[in-house]
Amino acid sequence: MGSKITGIGMYVPPRVVTNFDLEKIFETSDEWITTRTGIKERRIADEWVKASDLAYEASKEAIHNAGISEKDIDLVLVATSTPDNIFPSTACILADKLGLKNPMAFDFSAACSGFIYGLTIGDSFIKSGKAKNVLVVGTEVFSKLIDWTDRTTAVLFGDGAGAVVLSASNEDSDILSTVMKSDGSYGNLLHCQVGEKLKMHGRETFKQAVKSMESTSLKAIQKAGIKKEDIKLVIPHQANIRIIEALAEKLEFPLEKVYHNIHRYGNTSAASIPIAMYEAYKEGKFQRGDYLLLTAFGGGLTWGSIVLRF
Ligand code: ACO
Repeated sequence: MGSKITGIGMYVPPRVVTNFDLEKIFETSDEWITTRTGIKERRIADEWVKASDLAYEASKEAIHNAGISEKDIDLVLVATSTPDNIFPSTACILADKLGLKNPMAFDFSAACSGFIYGLTIGDSFIKSGKAKNVLVVGTEVFSKLIDWTDRTTAVLFGDGAGAVVLSASNEDSDILSTVMKSDGSYGNLLHCQVGEKLKMHGRETFKQAVKSMESTSLKAIQKAGIKKEDIKLVIPHQANIRIIEALAEKLEFPLEKVYHNIHRYGNTSAASIPIAMYEAYKEGKFQRGDYLLLTAFGGGLTWGSIVLRF
């Protein structure tokens, strides 16, 4: 049994917060944020909006695009570091909002690598025959974890959700290879204790990010049995444009083959790859049948890469 990506959706809250808006909150400048991160604006959800609300909108679109009905989904996987509650899970809340009938549903936490982990879990359930249509969602309201007096982290993040439907097929799998890793000894680089705000050692995180995404990307390409040149587009986690540029250089990919939309949304953590994949597809950067390399890193540390045929 192989898995196919049959549908994709995204949703971001309507409120745009620009770098100029942040200049009014703390000592910073559009110039500093743009040159250090590539970010120009981000979306921030209203106070009462939860991760499941954003996930609902993205999921509706993904299910619609997949050409199936809600009742066909038998597994809901939600990657989030900003769940609605400790329990019930955001996956259960989402399943209820979508009107699904008794699907398997659970959340998991791999920070910004969540979507890579989620696609891998979904693919494994399909390949083992345990699920037929899996909804994989990355959804975040990171604005709630941010210390709005800490200018170093407050400028980096935004809110949003992305979703895909993975469906079982008798044809070869679209997910050609997955490589996932973690190293808990680096947990202090990027962390958020329960009830507290996010903290980060930016410089060290930057170095680890480039190194880790490079190594799993090369492994994933090798495992997929294709050549680097066969890859139409690299879709990296959107954390910092300088990380993306450094990764492109290490992997020897021209920048035109490495997608970024960080200027619009900042770092949306687990939602960043599905949102980027959605927009790249809409912009015609790749077509059905093209090979993509997805790669991410995040708190944990966690990191990983996937080669897939879209
Ligand atoms: N505006 C103006 N000045 C600032 C700001 C700001 N928003 N933030 C920091 N500064 C100042 C600092 O105070 C410092 O001033 P000083 O020299 O007088 O002490 C100076 O700018 C340099 O600060 P650094 O922290 O050394 O800046 P750096 O060049 O490392 O850039 C950044 C910081 C952008 C955070 C960078 O380190 C980075 O992007 N790291 C990776 C972060 C990342 O990707 N995190 C996401 C992880 S994914 C996940 O799982 C959530």
